[in-house]
Amino acid sequence: MEKFMGKRILIAGGTGLIGSSLCDLLQEKGYEVAILSRSPEVKNYQTFQWDVERHYLDESALDFAEGLVFLSGENVGAKRWTQKQKDRILNSRIQAIRMLVEKIEKANRKPAFFISASATGFYGGTLSKRFSIETDLPGGDFLAAVTRQWEESVKPLQEMGIRMVVLRTGVVLSEKSGALPKMAKPVQLGLGSALGSGKQYISWIELNDLARLYLFAIENEKLQGVYNAVSPDPVTNETFMRQLARAYRKPFFLPSVPSFLLKLLMGEMADMVLKGNRVSCEKIREAGFSFQYNKLEDYFQNLKQQPH
Ligand SMILES: NC(=O)c1ccc[n+]([C@@H]2O[C@H](COP(=O)([O-])OP(=O)(O)OC[C@H]3O[C@@H](n4cnc5c(N)ncnc54)[C@H](OP(=O)(O)O)[C@@H]3O)[C@@H](O)[C@H]2O)c1
Repeated sequence: MEKFMGKRILIAGGTGLIGSSLCDLLQEKGYEVAILSRSPEVKNYQTFQWDVERHYLDESALDFAEGLVFLSGENVGAKRWTQKQKDRILNSRIQAIRMLVEKIEKANRKPAFFISASATGFYGGTLSKRFSIETDLPGGDFLAAVTRQWEESVKPLQEMGIRMVVLRTGVVLSEKSGALPKMAKPVQLGLGSALGSGKQYISWIELNDLARLYLFAIENEKLQGVYNAVSPDPVTNETFMRQLARAYRKPFFLPSVPSFLLKLLMGEMADMVLKGNRVSCEKIREAGFSFQYNKLEDYFQNLKQQPH
């Protein structure tokens, strides 16, 4: 593998779940890491501030950055999807990237690479068993529209000769935060069951594997374009919840939580759990990446907090 020699990496959204894990890994590997954040001071790492709504960016951030990783954005699972919240989900990503594109265009020195998160939501929620691959067309729902525009907004960087990698990320598994603690809560209370039909696929990736995948994208100059960031073992929601209950040595019940109830509680956001996508990792594996967690069972066997 050809090594990128630049050692200074700027991470927009470096305070989040994926960003914190990536910052620690990069520091461990000898990189100089800085975070682009809405907050002026972030513990542990040098921080540059920005405020996309006010079109403000501390421009010394771009002097620092030999490479950029983009992990910012309003959390899609944080609040009910009102129109205002949908706008926030979309704008916190594309307006931020548009501003970066504009500032990079004017900068004297351009970063060598721009690696951006995206999500497997690009393919749209479905109950299909077919594996989605990177050349597939986007789906037709809200998250598909967001990710499509998100990915589009990165393209001008490619035209500037900056190496661009987009990682279409599945459900990130970590005990710290994100989807898993939310899914584990009813299980730990002894109320584990599948959601809706239970047939929808969850394409997941373990947090440290994802941080390693970002490192792989940083260091492998041949990597360019869109890659799915999911493990080789997508499972149905029913299998996921059953295995989770087993890991916590808790019961698993059928029938599942009915779809109408979840729709009532969550509104349109329920689509995120009632539908899914079976996503292929073949492209990134063929590029030479290997996962530490290939099977969901291996990950669940190592859950620290079991049993409750
Ligand atoms: N976690 C997953 O399962 C998953 C799956 C697929 C895709 N992704 C994508 O990967 C990226 C990183 O995920 P993550 O789980 O690490 O995210 P996260 O923990 O929610 O953190 C993202 C960071 O974005 C910034 N942010 C939050 N709300 C914002 C807003 N309204 N406007 C601007 N910035 C905002 C925050 O940084 P500051 O407060 O420091 O500015 C935050 O630390 C996200 O874009 C996410 O959509 C995540």
